[in-house]
Amino acid sequence: MGLRHFLSLNDLSASELKLIMDRAMALKADQKDHGACGIMQGKVAVLVFEKNSTRTRISFECGIAQLGGHAVFMGPAESHLSRGESVEDTARVISRMAELIIMRTGAHERIEEMASSALVPVINGLTDFNHPCQLLADLQTYIEYRGDITGITAAWIGDGNNVCHSWMNAARILDFRLNIATPHGFRPDQALHDQCRSNVFMTDDPFEAARNAGVVITDTWASMGKENERSERNDAFKPFCVDSRLMQCARKDALFMHCLPAYRGQEVTAEVIDGPQSVVFPEAENRLHAQKALIEFLLDVNA
Ligand code: CP
Ligand code: NVA
Repeated sequence: MGLRHFLSLNDLSASELKLIMDRAMALKADQKDHGACGIMQGKVAVLVFEKNSTRTRISFECGIAQLGGHAVFMGPAESHLSRGESVEDTARVISRMAELIIMRTGAHERIEEMASSALVPVINGLTDFNHPCQLLADLQTYIEYRGDITGITAAWIGDGNNVCHSWMNAARILDFRLNIATPHGFRPDQALHDQCRSNVFMTDDPFEAARNAGVVITDTWASMGKENERSERNDAFKPFCVDSRLMQCARKDALFMHCLPAYRGQEVTAEVIDGPQSVVFPEAENRLHAQKALIEFLLDVNA
């Protein structure tokens, strides 16, 4: 089998995904024992980030250190990618020096180019199309608080964006129902919806989507790269704010999730994100544990 990368949740089978979740829980429970003797001892990971980040950068850098390795970070303005060096040449150069690449970029084709020229595994740290590492953490968080996710109903409220796309993949792989409520014109990718029609249901009514949901998820209305559409988006998305009235439509024990960064008073009220149903900070922490489990998995299957 060729080199395995993690560009999408679809790169994992359901059983591999469950294995990574189990390992993430074990790493979380036992964090202190997985320090300098970890799987990355003597190894280097390069983070190639063409967009800003707080959580993804920190969780990878901390996780790599805790696994015994070293992380080299190249931000949006720091590498020659910003002045036109090709992704292919960048991949060839990094592959000769490091054991792992983590890339955050805009067009998904750029990370596919990175993976097709790299001789080491490439992990997707977000593209405009998807954000699979976020889903590892989100799934871990759901399982941690509520157990098995198969068969539940989840509700995505807001923009049909990269994180929404990864939730759609998760719904298909782990067989749960995902209700998506977006305004017209902001629906997720049609071809992706065609692949997961038995698990993913669309509506333009956020209350219909939230009905009986065990988890309600939202994200910013203007993702990175869409900031100039903010005022038009704010108008279109106004009825899609996750507030306590909307949360009351969901199950009594419903969780609230958000990948962060959040904009209180826009996609979610402060009352909800800072309230008792919100798990956004454990969700952020789980980026660390889930990605450590992912790194172990990738280094192991590619050994
Ligand atoms: N959720 C997430 O990926 O956050 P950052 O953009 O801060 O990395
Ligand atoms: N949808 C957001 C996620 C940020 C983690 C964005 O792409 O900006």
